[in-house]
Amino acid sequence: MEITPQQTGLFGVHVTGFDHTTATEGDIERLKEAVYTRKIAVLKNQHLDPGQFLALGRRLGRPETYYEPMYHHPDHPEVFVSSNVPEGGRQIGVPRTGKFWHADYQFMPDPFGITLIHPQVVPRKNRGTYFIDMGAAHRRLPQELKDAVAGARCRHSVRKYFKIRPHDVYRPLSEIIEEVEVKTPSVVQPATFVHPFTGETVLYLSEGFTVGIEDADGRPLDEDLLPRLFAATGQTDETFRDENIHLQTFEKGDLLVWDNRSLIHRALHTSAPEPTVSHRVTVHDSRPLFDGLGAA
Ligand SMILES: [Fe+2]
Repeated sequence: MEITPQQTGLFGVHVTGFDHTTATEGDIERLKEAVYTRKIAVLKNQHLDPGQFLALGRRLGRPETYYEPMYHHPDHPEVFVSSNVPEGGRQIGVPRTGKFWHADYQFMPDPFGITLIHPQVVPRKNRGTYFIDMGAAHRRLPQELKDAVAGARCRHSVRKYFKIRPHDVYRPLSEIIEEVEVKTPSVVQPATFVHPFTGETVLYLSEGFTVGIEDADGRPLDEDLLPRLFAATGQTDETFRDENIHLQTFEKGDLLVWDNRSLIHRALHTSAPEPTVSHRVTVHDSRPLFDGLGAA
């Protein structure tokens, strides 16, 4: 197994010669270390079916099955399917996922540390995913904003981007909203935490899921603060040229593994959508998102 820095973009490594069926524990530790410190590892020449992909994920941690079944792969519910290509006339998974800045499961009480994506049908043009390293973005914040987030807490919710399911048709919107709030009530986490594997401070918020910011006593902070933080970290830049934004491209056979603690990401927008299918597996590693999770 060889790990080399990626030649384009702001961060990331390429990993060649990795085989999850023969990798040693030492290989797995080296791979995870690369994910935590270099943020994205692109495993090359992987051509895995959903069961094999899940087995690879299990080498890195305990899989988390997505809470909404409509995203599940029919044979392997732990595999989340993003697809705009019906199979045999049937929609598998969900189209147009993640076209907003977010960290995976940020709206849940116990988010996982690692996300793996294995693209299956790769668009010819406009392929890729945008990323922002929120550890680096925190380091670049003006001192005044660093001071404002120190000790603050953020409220996260899925409510802005919850996708209507087939069985929601003809249901009153108020009933669906009520169900979302009961099933996935908003969660409060520290605005910054220390990454348990790297020691860096991570700014944990996103335009897609963060709906409020408050002080340690639960009092809402200035309503301009969140929009200013989104702007300062690059999340409102619709040209995607902000210095914090990394475009991660991929080709067939690539398998992306990234640090879901410090990266937020957003699917690349295309005006004319091309066929695209990807499989996702998400895993909890040996530590919670941060030490003290759940104590807020
Ligand atoms: Fe995502």
